[in-house]
Amino acid sequence: MTTADIRSKFLDFFKEKGHAIIPSASVVPENDPTVLFTTAGMHPLVPYLQGQKHPMGTRLADSQKCVRTDDIDEVGDNRHLTFFEMLGNWSLGDYFKRESISWSFEFLTDEKWLGIDPKKIYVTVFEGDNDAPQDEESIGIWQALFETRGIVADLGNRIRAYPKKKNWWGPAGLTGPCGPDTEIFYDTGRTHDKAFGEECHQNCDCGRFVEIWNNVFMEYDKQSDGSFRPLAQKNVDTGMGLERIAAVIQNVETVFETDAFQPIIQKISDLSGKAYIGNERAFRIIADHLRAAAFIIGDERGVVPSNVGQGYIVRRLLRRAIREGRRLGIADAFTARIADVIIGIYGTHYTELETNRAKIVDELNKEEDKFGKSLEKGMKELEKMVSKGSLTGEQAFLLFSSYGFPLELTEEILREKGQSVDRGVFEAEFKKHQELSRTASAGTFKGGLADNSVETTRLHTATHLLHQALRMVLGDHVEQKGSNITAERLRFDFSHPQKMTPEEIKKVEDIVNDIIKQDVPMHCEQLTVDEAKKRGAIGLFGDKYALMGDKINVYFAGDFSKEICGGPHVERTGELGSFKIQKEEAVSAGVRRIKATVSGRL
Ligand code: SER
Repeated sequence: MTTADIRSKFLDFFKEKGHAIIPSASVVPENDPTVLFTTAGMHPLVPYLQGQKHPMGTRLADSQKCVRTDDIDEVGDNRHLTFFEMLGNWSLGDYFKRESISWSFEFLTDEKWLGIDPKKIYVTVFEGDNDAPQDEESIGIWQALFETRGIVADLGNRIRAYPKKKNWWGPAGLTGPCGPDTEIFYDTGRTHDKAFGEECHQNCDCGRFVEIWNNVFMEYDKQSDGSFRPLAQKNVDTGMGLERIAAVIQNVETVFETDAFQPIIQKISDLSGKAYIGNERAFRIIADHLRAAAFIIGDERGVVPSNVGQGYIVRRLLRRAIREGRRLGIADAFTARIADVIIGIYGTHYTELETNRAKIVDELNKEEDKFGKSLEKGMKELEKMVSKGSLTGEQAFLLFSSYGFPLELTEEILREKGQSVDRGVFEAEFKKHQELSRTASAGTFKGGLADNSVETTRLHTATHLLHQALRMVLGDHVEQKGSNITAERLRFDFSHPQKMTPEEIKKVEDIVNDIIKQDVPMHCEQLTVDEAKKRGAIGLFGDKYALMGDKINVYFAGDFSKEICGGPHVERTGELGSFKIQKEEAVSAGVRRIKATVSGRL
């Protein structure tokens, strides 16, 4: 069974169970300043888990493109990946524990689907504490299911209960929907390594058990005083890493040996003349990092290598891969040639990769050309610096500014020599030389999801009003090219050929402030694409929506603005207070950028 087979079986299975199959959301989140990338399947669905109506209904399933950047330096071992696909099914106030657990069991063990021997399945549940009781319901459902296959499922063995640290998910922000989860493990049959303790169990690190699926039962709403109240809408949120389940089904030791990675590994071998065995670390870094870079650049909201935000991550990934390629002895440009193989593997399902093939190839070639040239010189410089004693933060900054060595790459090279860099000094240098990027100020993107705070919600509504006002003042050629919202300001990129005049800026501000003063209600309607077009809604009428066939969410600000959007929004425009454009500038040819704020309330 190939990785593509597993993906389509999963989607077919949940379609049979009444789920709408939704396309993967962009890997670059829109309107969420707290993370750089989509980190889980549930991430783009947060507004719906919080109660907003989803246009496709209450049962959804998909395969979501995800990127996690916390452990980039760990990639190279046998399990870490930056990019991965997460299979997931959701109930938005529809079914709950019984259906969720039964379907997971059926999909995993039924011969018609994955056909895993049920004896190989072990599970965990929440053990209970002061906030919520032990998850007896899940325990009962699991026991009955195992029994149908003649397996006695004792609590403390086949089913084990753990505290919140292991078996609880969320809330996404500080408050909000959360609940116990039940995790499903596969027993690889490897013998327990005593180094990890006397007794082996599901969460033991010895490698015998592999977690394959997580079913979260959102039934509580965490309050700002820290208490947990029952949630009005009970949801199910599940996540299964596709690469991992493929490794299990294909009975291989690591994800890199699955069919999805093998052609990439083979290509690296062809280009380097080296074997995978003996060079696993370099091969894995190149394969993982180029896969992630291709998906990020080739995304419908794709980003290119740069020194800030997501672009910096792409740069780090590419430069780390390039260094490993050179170390393997690949002298010529190779990243784009490997990307071609990657696009070949994934382009049928993720068609945006095919659409953006030229862009991916071009960006990889540019980056490799730039860094390939300075890498060797930089390495010589680094060796010289190290031979004179340990490397200072200033020197690390010099390697960054003159030779393009991302700090993390310098740190990795030094670690290989048993040394480290003074990050504080590096960052001080960095700050001195340019505006401190989000990347250097670690913490701003350390996981976590948007809390949909009042501030970002107000700015989100303000963005809609601004968009419409710009079209009224400048013309219908104005289209959204990008949007980013933090708690402090909105940033809106749009198509327009020249600088706005002070009069135009003033006019736009006045229109938005007038609608705020009128305190018009915001409301959302589910419309078909045709209806939305007929009613003059603006926004992205991409392939995505055509694919979704059915209905889309359109937000109305009274009858002033109509825009396709996933929300969330304020209830009435009066909540915005007063709107001010702080800056209007060029982003690129034909694209302008506005930064604006809202303050106070009427
Ligand atoms: N949100 C859960 C996870 O990421 C289930 O999808 O594991």
